Amino acid sequence: MTDRIHLGFEMGTGEKVSVPLHHAIVSGVTGLSGKTTAIAAMLSRLPDGYKSLVFSTKRGEISFEGAHETQPFYRATVDWEYVSGVLEAARKEKLKFERSWIIKASRGASTLRDVYQNIVTELDGGGKLRGLDESVWTVLRAYFEKVLPELESQPWAPSLDLTPGLNVMHLEHLSEEVQGLVIAASLEEGHRGLSNVILVIPEAWAFLPQQRGSPVKWAAQHIIRQGRARGVFLFLDSQDVTSVSKEVLKSVDLWILGRQREINEVRRILEQLPAVQKPKPTDVMTLGVGQFYVASEDWCRKVYVQPAGIDDEIARKVAVGEISISPSVPALLPQMPETPNYPDEEDPMTISDLRVQLANAEIQRDESQRQVLVLRDQLAAELLALQRSQEQRDAALEDLEAEIARSKLMRGAIRDFLGIGSVALPGPGSPHVDEETIVEKVLARVGTGRPVLHLLPVEALRHRFQQETVERLEEQIAALDETQKRALKWLLAIGKRARYGEIAAGLGLSLRDSQGIQMSRGIKDMQTLGLVQDDKSNGVKATVLERVSLALAPYAASPEDIEATYQGLLHALAEAM
Ligand SMILES: Nc1ncnc2c1ncn2[C@@H]1O[C@H](COP(=O)(O)OP(=O)(O)OP(=O)(O)O)[C@@H](O)[C@H]1O
Ligand SMILES: [Mg+2]
Repeated sequence: MTDRIHLGFEMGTGEKVSVPLHHAIVSGVTGLSGKTTAIAAMLSRLPDGYKSLVFSTKRGEISFEGAHETQPFYRATVDWEYVSGVLEAARKEKLKFERSWIIKASRGASTLRDVYQNIVTELDGGGKLRGLDESVWTVLRAYFEKVLPELESQPWAPSLDLTPGLNVMHLEHLSEEVQGLVIAASLEEGHRGLSNVILVIPEAWAFLPQQRGSPVKWAAQHIIRQGRARGVFLFLDSQDVTSVSKEVLKSVDLWILGRQREINEVRRILEQLPAVQKPKPTDVMTLGVGQFYVASEDWCRKVYVQPAGIDDEIARKVAVGEISISPSVPALLPQMPETPNYPDEEDPMTISDLRVQLANAEIQRDESQRQVLVLRDQLAAELLALQRSQEQRDAALEDLEAEIARSKLMRGAIRDFLGIGSVALPGPGSPHVDEETIVEKVLARVGTGRPVLHLLPVEALRHRFQQETVERLEEQIAALDETQKRALKWLLAIGKRARYGEIAAGLGLSLRDSQGIQMSRGIKDMQTLGLVQDDKSNGVKATVLERVSLALAPYAASPEDIEATYQGLLHALAEAM
């Protein structure tokens, strides 16, 4: 029979809600949903005989009352799949390396340093590591040079010692890369030797990404495949669900969904839920702190999660609305201070909230900048059309004036020729001759001689504007500073997206020093010019060709013109260094 945990009370009815002990995900927006509080609550009420291990990776996370502090444990279990996860985590993208390459890099290795040595030996010995070009190597080397000294200088516990009840492993002082390796090592140990244990993975969107491999994902997959029989379960703590590995989510049977801000994220989450009566997206977007839609087995209920140490009756009153949460939060949870070890830090919840806002603002700014570029090009096209029609009108006017003048001259000449106006036509009784009629008749014979309109050739005009546009682009490239030019060349050379850290590594810079910071700013400025494009999650790519096409679009430039302009810019860029 499945063990169950008391979770809280159903909103509205105040009925007690318990959940089956399964692999679970608790999601919700930072600071406003109460994910960690909900996990702490469940762990405080585990059935007898269960242990739990929480990895604390970020400063300012709520502290787990009464938890036993476990010394960080690390031991590498090097097989080619692990190495593949490590390398993908290093590259922050899925690798296109062939399996044989990775097997070669992991051969005979029992530590990550051995793997590093294998790669160095291959490269130094002139070995042809297929698929390993210069930029890939630069990133991998930067990764190894960062993690190896950190891994080798830490006092790791020789074994993973968990006491009954709640255990916390503090990893806040380690880099994100090493945190991943350490969590993976504990998970692997949990998979191999433990039973009746809950392992809590924080920031699951980062440690168990959908898009690529990671050491934690490698170890988590062992647990989801085989853990249930021995009572080894994963609890995932994650701000979002859609970035978390689908492979792992497939095994999740308990969904605890807190407030989300983004409608598309909510829709995607709801799609993944098992076939139960699902809430509407707006219901999820308006959840309060501590309130979650909980879906499990064949039901879905809106629950107020009872925090650890809060009296049943108070929690039930909150669920039925007799006590309002927000004003009384501090009073309700006096036992949950933020981690006291870091008194000088700013409130991290405020920081992460601000980060979200900043990221949203940046996305909006990028979109507006793109629109400005489009509008600027449209305006140039409209000015061109206006100019063109004005020149046509001027030309037509000139022609008309010339025609009038010609016609006047002709009339004069005919009059002179016929002697009209000065001498009367001879002969009495001769019919009256209307002078004007004669002139018109002669003119009709001669023809009006209306000249063909000589419009300014549109092609030439178009070419002129196109040329100006090309010059403007060339000036923009010439005005970039040295770091911007180098970064742009590097991006053009690798021909795909790269993150700031990878670009910095590629240029031999560090994002932490002033040159690296200058590089980041420079790339942002290039984005304003449309020369690069930064899609927040996958990094930056060069968009010089797209920029050229956009700028020349109004002039109906041919593909050859676009290519020639692009090549010209590349040439200017190459010469600039
Ligand atoms: N069930 C609850 N009842 C009352 N207050 C709660 C509840 N859950 C959380 N809170 C309050 O909300 C705050 C944020 O909770 P918590 O740290 O658990 O959120 P979180 O979703 O884990 O945030 P983060 O993403 O920043 O880690 C807590 O400090 C607590 O004051
Ligand atoms: Mg949290």
